[in-house]
Amino acid sequence: MRQKVPDNPNRSIRQGPKQSPWNGRPTGSAGLKTTGLIAESDRLRTAWTQYESDLLDRYLVTGVEDPRINLQSIISRAFLIDAIRPDDFTGLVQEEFRFSICLNFILHILMTGCFQASRKSILDAIVQDRQAYGDVVIPSYLRRCFELISGEKRDIPDYIAQALTRSASGENSYLPDGALSTFEHIWGRELSFHGEAKSISVLEPACGSANDYRYLHSFGVSKFLDYTGFDICAKNIANARRRFPTVDFEVGNVLDIPADDKSYDYLFVHDIFEHLSPAAVDIALAEICRVTRKEACLSFFNMADIDEHVVEPAGLYYWNTLSVKKVRRVLMDSACDIDVVHIDTFLRDNYDCDDYHNKEAYTLMVSFDA
Ligand SMILES: C[S@@+](CC[C@H](N)C(=O)[O-])C[C@H]1O[C@@H](n2cnc3c(N)ncnc32)[C@H](O)[C@@H]1O
Repeated sequence: MRQKVPDNPNRSIRQGPKQSPWNGRPTGSAGLKTTGLIAESDRLRTAWTQYESDLLDRYLVTGVEDPRINLQSIISRAFLIDAIRPDDFTGLVQEEFRFSICLNFILHILMTGCFQASRKSILDAIVQDRQAYGDVVIPSYLRRCFELISGEKRDIPDYIAQALTRSASGENSYLPDGALSTFEHIWGRELSFHGEAKSISVLEPACGSANDYRYLHSFGVSKFLDYTGFDICAKNIANARRRFPTVDFEVGNVLDIPADDKSYDYLFVHDIFEHLSPAAVDIALAEICRVTRKEACLSFFNMADIDEHVVEPAGLYYWNTLSVKKVRRVLMDSACDIDVVHIDTFLRDNYDCDDYHNKEAYTLMVSFDA
């Protein structure tokens, strides 16, 4: 087991490496209670390990999954920023949500081939505040946003014009990197107060190849975190360690987290529960509640307001639709409060946006009695 080295040079020099709660605890399936869960863990491990390392490194960080524009990744970062500096950045986070829906809309129309002939013609239509161009309706939130960033919010670069005038580059083949990185630069600047804020302990189960962590780093958030990420797939962890050799990435199983009770103040996780059997969902949720002391931010990609989970086996794992009520009930065995955010409803209510690409996406903010 590697020694835990916090991603904060000042702290590691002054305090030395902290004792990792992972040290001395079994990893893998040693603590699992039933042969069914051991077999399920083996299948989950195989399901992801069968892919090439290179694919694992990039498949969840492009297109709508790019954590710079993915709304649930933005919510997770906002959750951590709020833990570091409570209430200081509410307005900026709201602007980043607006950025997310606008760039997702532009990405969608570029990906579906509309306006392929001329990005410039879309921009002209937005500048002229037209409600439609050809067959495509230009949503009110996009027109409103353009008005803001070309007017009273001029401190935010005009990412709409950038997205529609500069050529696409990098891993995302439709949008230019400059536009995608708009808030990466803003947060980097805003969080450069280095050293004034406290450091918080954070656990991320199913971290993939540092899919979200790489943007916690580039957005300037990671320097305030005492972070551990783990994943059942050793290839993912090798990728994550290659990118961040001094950060604590471990091979581990969300069904048997090798950490002591309440050993992390905060936890965030994306897109794992739907891939588990119903029995394993309950165990994973219980494990997350067991190790988290203050708050957890749980992101789901396939959830609905239904009474029972809809179970859909998909090869080596599942692609279930989870019941909000059932998940909530399990969490409430340990939590003191849960804020259920249905992303589509949130965007409708706050931004008049009714075209979010995933109607089944939910984020649950879970508070514990710390
Ligand atoms: C859909 S991917 C999500 C990855 C990352 N959280 C993201 O959103 O980009 C699911 C991840 O869960 C990991 N995984 C699957 N079963 C697991 C388990 N029992 N414990 C920990 N990680 C697991 C996989 O290796 C994979 O990296």
